[in-house]
Amino acid sequence: MVERCFRDISENSLRRGVFTSVPELVAAIDGYIAHHNINPTPFIWTMSARDILQKVIRADGRLPTKQNALHQGWPAPMRSDDLVHFCPPGRLIIGNGSRHQLPALLHRLGYRKGLIVTDAFFVSATPWVTEYVEAARALGLATHVYSGGMPDPTTTLCDEATAVLRGELLDAMPDHVIALGGGSNIDLAKALCLTLPEGRPVLNFAGDISWARPLPLIAMPTTAGTGSEATPGAILLDPNNSTKVAVSDNSLRPAIALIDPEFTFTCPPRVTADAGIDAFTHAIESYLTIDSANYDRGGHTDPGYSGRSSLTMMFAREAMRLCIAWLDRTYTQGDDIEARTGMAYASVYAALSYGSAGLNAVHGIAYAVAGQTHKSHGSTNAVILPYVLDSLREVRRPEMLEIARLFGVPTGDQDRAVREMPRLVRDLVDRLGIPTNLRAFGIEEADLERLSEDAIGVARLAKALPLPDVKSAYRSIIRNAWQGRLSADTSMQARPESGVYDNASS
Ligand SMILES: NC(=O)c1ccc[n+]([C@@H]2O[C@H](COP(=O)([O-])OP(=O)(O)OC[C@H]3O[C@@H](n4cnc5c(N)ncnc54)[C@H](O)[C@@H]3O)[C@@H](O)[C@H]2O)c1
Repeated sequence: MVERCFRDISENSLRRGVFTSVPELVAAIDGYIAHHNINPTPFIWTMSARDILQKVIRADGRLPTKQNALHQGWPAPMRSDDLVHFCPPGRLIIGNGSRHQLPALLHRLGYRKGLIVTDAFFVSATPWVTEYVEAARALGLATHVYSGGMPDPTTTLCDEATAVLRGELLDAMPDHVIALGGGSNIDLAKALCLTLPEGRPVLNFAGDISWARPLPLIAMPTTAGTGSEATPGAILLDPNNSTKVAVSDNSLRPAIALIDPEFTFTCPPRVTADAGIDAFTHAIESYLTIDSANYDRGGHTDPGYSGRSSLTMMFAREAMRLCIAWLDRTYTQGDDIEARTGMAYASVYAALSYGSAGLNAVHGIAYAVAGQTHKSHGSTNAVILPYVLDSLREVRRPEMLEIARLFGVPTGDQDRAVREMPRLVRDLVDRLGIPTNLRAFGIEEADLERLSEDAIGVARLAKALPLPDVKSAYRSIIRNAWQGRLSADTSMQARPESGVYDNASS
């Protein structure tokens, strides 16, 4: 009887993705037993069958949702209308100590004359630049070092560096550029890949650059956050109007992304937290963004961003899991190698998601907040993230439940779980020492309207928010973020069911 019960419920209902949680499934089994008036003589069997089912599901860390039923051996409905246009870096190399492989690899690929773009910290406080230059020289590769990188590079810095480097290199172009540093140095190096051969101001490259032939870039991130080593864009600050401009094309994606987590071990806690929450934002935002089938490519034949798909969501899910597991720890215990390595993977996996799926309201509003406050990229994302999540409760319910489970939230009461998740994200932001509302960022109530207009002006991000009325959604997200108000705050229902979240079982 128990077997029949399982066959009917598991094979029919689970296969169709009807259930999204273990308690729901167990309730259905109980209902089945009651409905069919089953004599509970083998009651103990039923109990153990339920236990086994829970164990099987939990051991694999997955629940029988539509997205993951496949992993349980149950066929899952396909995202049949996905339109995948996935653009990773040319080569992806990850591992502690992997930096030592680079000289031999570049030699094998035929490169002979390189330029390293980095900043003063890496030249003066780490052995990495000298070690690389000497190892490369031993193989016959010459390397010029530029150490003028700065946080949040400006278009002016890029143009000055272009002029200086063209002079120093006597117009004999390098055959590759290596970026060593956080997102700032990688973005400067990306832009230089365009401007060095052409000798033109970087703003000339802000539109369609399909005609350009950028130098090949090797990106070695030293923060776990931006994922610029896998994306098509370089973000530069335009000092004339305090806005960020993006120079973007798939041809700018690094030829090689080399992620050596050891590079991040020296990151101070503030940089670690800001970069880490940036990675988490990339993962969540791209996981919940517009579907590839609905993404407006504007007729582009090689779009940099094209909406979420089963492929990008796979990377996003793993990136979120890693961030939830390791972000707190990298901040409080920067010498934890496992945590640092976990976040290095999380960052690049998040980039493999958002680097093709794209982003929406969190980044759109964060750019406007950064324009007014000049706070760091990661912190301006973090202050907005919980309020954007709250606005997506209805349209992205199954995905929100999935994220709640990754946090270890019991999902028996689904309404409560989807409300609770943004609050847990806000708690994480708070633990990382980042303000959790816009007032604490120094934004005045009178600034909110301008903030909405600036944010909605970033049309490529606004159009990807999966809500029908984006303008009014932005307004209410911004007001809620200013007041620090989530739906969980106003709902008595929203308290944790047991007061303790069980990460181990999810
Ligand atoms: N192109 C993209 O796809 C993309 C995506 C997100 C963000 N960004 C950009 O990235 C920038 C932020 O990058 P970030 O968060 O990596 O920080 P960052 O590169 O601005 O670095 C911040 C500071 O930390 C220092 N630092 C970096 N790594 C260190 C290490 N291992 N040890 C000690 N000090 C270290 C740097 O020298 C710098 O002073 C912003 O300008 C943002 O616009 C770009």
